[in-house]
This record gives sequence, C-alpha cells and structure tokens, in this order.
Amino acid sequence: NDPRIVEIASTIREVPNFPKPGIMFKDITTLLLDHKAFKNTVDLFVERYTGMGIDVVAGIEARGFIFGPPIALAIGAKFVPLRKPGKLPGEVISEKYVLEYGSDCLEMHIGAVQPDERALVVDDLVATGGTLRAAINLLEIAGAEVVECACVIELPELKGRQKLEGKPLYVLVESH
Ligand code: PRP
Ligand code: MG
Repeated sequence: NDPRIVEIASTIREVPNFPKPGIMFKDITTLLLDHKAFKNTVDLFVERYTGMGIDVVAGIEARGFIFGPPIALAIGAKFVPLRKPGKLPGEVISEKYVLEYGSDCLEMHIGAVQPDERALVVDDLVATGGTLRAAINLLEIAGAEVVECACVIELPELKGRQKLEGKPLYVLVESH
C-alpha cells in the first residue's frame, strides 16, 4: 500500500450521527485542510489517469466538484459538471436515482460530451452506488465511454460496486 494513502485516510474525519442518527459521516473537509494530503489525493488520481486518453472528467455535485477539476486540468481533459436538478441553464438530460430516503436527480448539459469520448467519473465517496450509477447512465446516454469511476472513499459494506455492474471503480480508501 502506498504510504500516501495511509496518510490521506488519517485526515478524513468521522462524525457520528450526521446528518442523521446512526450515520457515521466521512468528512473530507479535514483532508482539504491538509495541503499534503489534498495534493497527494489529486496526484494519485493523476498518476493513474495520465496517458489513458481520458477526454472528459465528469464531477458530481457537490463534492465531486472539489476533486474533479484539478484532475481534469492535470490530465488535459475537459471538466463537465453533473448537477442537481434545476441548476444548469441549457438543455439537459436527467437521470433519477434512489437514495436511502427518497430520490434525487443529476443533470448534464446536452452537447457537453460528444459520442465516443472517453470519460472518467469523479466523486468523493461511493456508498450505495446510486449516484455513480446515475452519472454513468447520463454519460452513456450521451454516447460517451465511461472508462472508470474514481472516488476517494468507498463504504464496501453498502455494496455500491454491485450497482456498477462491472464498470471499473477505483478508490483510495476503504472505510468499514
Ligand atoms: C454523497 C457523496 C456521494 C453520494 C454517495 O453526496 O458525496 O455523492 O452521497 O452516495 P451513494 O453511493 O449512496 O449514491 P450527497 O448527495 O449527500 O451530497 P453532496 O455531495 O452534494 O454534499
Ligand atoms: Mg455527493
């Protein structure tokens, strides 16, 4: 294991009973306060995706907007924001997904991604995988090829990988 990953893991704060009783929240704002850990997080992704012919980094609102853009800039890709409903001014395609309580939706501008472009999906954390699944669906509807999803943290107990049906998922830190 890369010693940088051990250090990154140590900067993620666990907040019990947030946002609801019984939930152990993984807080990446403490990672962002640590320059070395933040830099190493971005570097690890950049090392993995440089030279892989990625055209598009798609970041998921809100926390995918923190890690996605520095990766996109470093690997020479464009950045496409996947936003919560009603935020994008142009014509969009929408994809609903189910959460623990209720449902949510992600939107992407039509024309942001061209058919056959190679896409990387970036978010901070994968839990049930519903959010990543919706992001993959949006990109595939637009004709892109989703090469991989990249997250800082995975909660493996929630089996989010199953929802990706074999789509590669790369994570730095597994949190049990
Ligand atoms: C959190 C997290 C992931 C998603 C993972 O985002 O940042 O995007 O949940 O959950 P899932 O794998 O079960 O779909 P959230 O929607 O809470 O909001 P935020 O990123 O806008 O803060
Ligand atoms: Mg999120």
